[in-house]
Amino acid sequence: MESVDQQDRIEVRASGPLEGSVPISGAKNSVLKLMAACLLTEGTFVIRNVPDIEDVTAMAEVLRAMGVTVSRSGDALTIERPASITPEAPYALTEQLRASTAVLGPLLAGVGHARVALPGGDDFGPRPIDMHVAALETIGCRIETSGGDVYASADNLVGNLVLLEFPSVGATENVMMAAVRAKGTTVIDNAAREPEIADLAGFLNHMGGQVTGAGTSTIEVEGVDELHPVEHTVVSDRIEAATFLAALAMAGGEITLLGARSDHMAMLCRKLGDMGVRTSSDPDGIWAMCNGRLRSADVSTLPYPGLPTDCKPLLVAMLSVAEGVGIVTENLFSGRFRYVDELVRMGANIRTEGHHAVIRGIDRLSGAPVRASDIRAGAALVVAGLAADGVTVVSDPHHIDRGYEDFVGKLSALGADVRRVRPGG
Ligand code: EPU
Repeated sequence: MESVDQQDRIEVRASGPLEGSVPISGAKNSVLKLMAACLLTEGTFVIRNVPDIEDVTAMAEVLRAMGVTVSRSGDALTIERPASITPEAPYALTEQLRASTAVLGPLLAGVGHARVALPGGDDFGPRPIDMHVAALETIGCRIETSGGDVYASADNLVGNLVLLEFPSVGATENVMMAAVRAKGTTVIDNAAREPEIADLAGFLNHMGGQVTGAGTSTIEVEGVDELHPVEHTVVSDRIEAATFLAALAMAGGEITLLGARSDHMAMLCRKLGDMGVRTSSDPDGIWAMCNGRLRSADVSTLPYPGLPTDCKPLLVAMLSVAEGVGIVTENLFSGRFRYVDELVRMGANIRTEGHHAVIRGIDRLSGAPVRASDIRAGAALVVAGLAADGVTVVSDPHHIDRGYEDFVGKLSALGADVRRVRPGG
């Protein structure tokens, strides 16, 4: 067993008010799919505004294993996709990154076959890809699963009506990326509407694809014979922006989120307004201010434009110190309440029952050693530490590194008392 001194960790102390500006990076959940889309055709792509995070590194490894060259310079990735690639993603790589299943659609369209290991579940529940498979089969793919691998092939992709059972982000993206090269028109009904889907559609259209309706529930993809490589700038990360708003809510103060898009965060900003955090659109991004005690509110996660499930741990942390009682309902993932036990260790009064959590706000949390179980849970625990007496020590910060570029540096620059402690360093 490692002693605390030997563990990589983040230490947080109560701090505030926060002030200043924080640059918001490009969206993790967009760039990972854009990187996969580079498999569609030979040539050199440049993707800008790419966050320097572990999930991007993991996706780069997935592409490299296929024979693609990926290099970074500043915030730009250059991706050189050769004429011939090995269309395989082994378990050793997919288990590191669930989003690696996004290579399935582009490989089918760009190569005609693929072998992709199933990534398995994770800390917030099972992560099946049955909807991806059903959707791809509808447009002419043959898919079999054996030994934990998905074997997919398609001699001819043929446009069709794809009716998704649920507006799955990943399934919508996979079918868009396959349908872009299908013969005829594919209509994706009950499509996911996230801004990252619209970003991917923009990328595909720059490449010569014909995708319309992205951002609505009905996306039409007219198949084309040829695509070409492009340069593209990734849309800003609304979940990173939400994380800094939560930090502000816990610590108080006035900050500007540079490059954040308020039009992508309307439901969250409204909920935060109910809880006492003021936000407004600013030429540079989003301006936000919070003074005094937060007020409780009920929260229910839903696909976009509803409240994002990825913001739920942040909202639960905020409700832990808000005045009154808040009920939080998770509608997307079965087990996304792991971090609650950690917040309870910090003194929070939270009861969970199935998909619901009841949070009775207390005045202050108290610092404690806690463990990050996933990206968003980890970020929420750091944010919780800003309103806790004493020191909060968040272990397993590598989860946070998967999705946040320089999280500690950005928070410190706003005046938060937070530092990364590395073993031996
Ligand atoms: N689902 C199925 N079958 C499928 C696909 C999804 O049952 O074939 C279920 C899932 O189990 C889940 C629900 O549908 O209960 C929603 O899943 P969805 O496919 O929409 O999510 P995803 O594409 O796997 C993306 C983000 C997640 C984010 C969700 C929901 C990426 C890389 N990940 O996942 O982000 O929580 O959409 O908005 O885009 C994160 O950033 O930390 C993260 C987990």
